[in-house]
Amino acid sequence: MDGLDALRAKVMDAISGASDEAALEDVRVSTVGKKGEVSLKMREMGKMSPEERQEAGPALNALKNEVNSALAAKKEALADAALNERLQSEWLDVTLPARTRPMGTIHPISQVWEEVTAIFADLGFSVAEGPQIETDWYNFDALNIPGHHPARAEMDTFYMKRAEGDNRPPNVLRTHTSPVQIRSMEALGAPLRIICPGRVYRADYDQTHTPMFHQIEGLAIDKDISMANLKWVLEEFFSIFFGIEGIKTRFRASHFPFTEPSAEVDVQCSWVDGQLRIGEGDGWMEILGSGMVHPKVLQAANVDPYEYQGFAFGMGIDRIAMLKYGIPDLRAFFDSDLRWLRHYGFAALDQPAIHAGLSRT
Ligand code: PHE
Repeated sequence: MDGLDALRAKVMDAISGASDEAALEDVRVSTVGKKGEVSLKMREMGKMSPEERQEAGPALNALKNEVNSALAAKKEALADAALNERLQSEWLDVTLPARTRPMGTIHPISQVWEEVTAIFADLGFSVAEGPQIETDWYNFDALNIPGHHPARAEMDTFYMKRAEGDNRPPNVLRTHTSPVQIRSMEALGAPLRIICPGRVYRADYDQTHTPMFHQIEGLAIDKDISMANLKWVLEEFFSIFFGIEGIKTRFRASHFPFTEPSAEVDVQCSWVDGQLRIGEGDGWMEILGSGMVHPKVLQAANVDPYEYQGFAFGMGIDRIAMLKYGIPDLRAFFDSDLRWLRHYGFAALDQPAIHAGLSRT
């Protein structure tokens, strides 16, 4: 049959020149498609003599097969090329180091909160919590501070407003963590060993006072607890917290309505070139208030004062954070100044734990 070689050459050229699958499809339609050149040639066989047909038939079939397999091979090659191109353009180098971002830090208050909790947990104290909005019963009366008591006036309390016509005494923003003593004794009874870290509120503002600050309350109730236990626990705590073996404390007689006897506790310190050093020298730094829980307080919380007694203490978390980490101004704690936080903050993944050391930055 005439012209088959020319047709083969033309079709093969068109196939190898097709630049994508759409162009290849056009080539297919125009060659082996219904009205394609190869198909038309096959149709011509109808008009041939049997001899001619015998010659042209196998030749045309061979051409058709050849074209079909060339189309299939090209189609595969085009698909591979398309995939390669996509892989190239969507390539991602996972070996690149992560972009560095400024990392957040742990606020010194959170850090010290965790440190104190870790130390007292080790001494067998569990953590208790209470609400920041308190009734005046829990914040005052149950702690042996009746309505006429001067301590109420001294505390610079924030009172909450009652609705019109509601004559109950106003709720307060708790002025100390001591109400958690009452709540814990009510809920858990005696014996009991708890600490309560938390936010407290007083209307006061200067370099060492902010209207919101943090306290940690300690309470141990049992049948034979004395001031000696209190002193041991506090000295143990200060030694671990400040990282100074055998730190000395001084108990000064004081007065709190909810403890009897009461003591303010100082730790040993010195001032060298205007720098405070805890745990050495012959100066004293006042740190906390403490005492033996007043029988009336036990009674208010349904603990029998003839059977049980115990000690309690309360200290400022912010204050001991300032002392430990040399932070001069309390107000900066709450300014959210990023430069300050980067300077005084702690690495985010460094959880305080006694066994791991407490003061890493
Ligand atoms: N609640 C006292 C205060 O806020 C501290 C304190 C707690 C004193 C427990 C003695 C016992 O000042």
